[in-house]
Amino acid sequence: MTRTVYVNGEYLAETEAKISIFDRGFLMADAVYEVTSVLGGKLIDFDGHAVRLKRSLDELDMAAPCSKDELLEIHRKLVELNDIDEGMVYLQVTRGSDGDRDFVFPSDDTKPTLVLFTQDKPGLANSPAAQKGIRVISIDDIRWGRRDIKTTQLLYPSLGKMMAKKAGADDAWMTEDGYVTEGTSNNAYFVKDGKIVTRPLSNDILHGITRKAVLRMAAEAQMIVEERLFTIEEAKAADEAFVTSASTFVMPVVEIDGETLGEGTPGPIARRLREIYLEESLKAAV
Ligand code: PDD
Repeated sequence: MTRTVYVNGEYLAETEAKISIFDRGFLMADAVYEVTSVLGGKLIDFDGHAVRLKRSLDELDMAAPCSKDELLEIHRKLVELNDIDEGMVYLQVTRGSDGDRDFVFPSDDTKPTLVLFTQDKPGLANSPAAQKGIRVISIDDIRWGRRDIKTTQLLYPSLGKMMAKKAGADDAWMTEDGYVTEGTSNNAYFVKDGKIVTRPLSNDILHGITRKAVLRMAAEAQMIVEERLFTIEEAKAADEAFVTSASTFVMPVVEIDGETLGEGTPGPIARRLREIYLEESLKAAV
């Protein structure tokens, strides 16, 4: 089925959508993005994603393409037009194009490019991967130093995912100066003796919207959370581990660098947090 997508004010068939070859998103990855999940035809934590988008734009001195209310309207319309029950809405804003390639930013009157499209993922909430848990390997984190800004510079995360696939695993956790930063497209956690450990927020990791919600829900459920640096060795010796993201919610991790965690099946804390997250997020979905 041909999707209806959104490009700069227009709803178009995906085959009709066009962007300039001079667009800075295409030439320089001068662009930021958000991925918002859809469950039961509703948006999960739209507000969190809109607030982080604004922050990413501000950090890069990039103009906002429209208001938050207009963004919500576009998200909702795409979900409806494409009849999405479970899936995602991808949004990207670029610094636009002024018709040539130049390292210097284009003039202030250059309009940002705004593109949104949906991804239909039936069964997202009941994913088989979540029943089984995923296997991760560790790789060096060689990304730039502003990982808190959600830019479209995703070549290294993409290579990381391919390194994992080649090694017979599902994903990779990145390490820097001996400590785990995050997964290629998710935040990373381990659980030891009932305590959930995850890296604190800084410019070194993306400030996950799912992370924020899950840590709040964990605290509300009287779980103990420790935000501190941790090594891959600590994680390998953990009772359980998991990752969080808008596209996977809470996803159990059952193996790190070939070492099986616990029984090699999703741990009770990861399973419980996934349940709570799905339940609470659905209630608050818009
Ligand atoms: N990725 N860390 C990185 C590097 C990410 O790319 C993501 C999200 C996260 C989790 O953030 P959130 O909970 O806000 O989704 C952490 C999205 C899903 C993606 O690139 O598809």
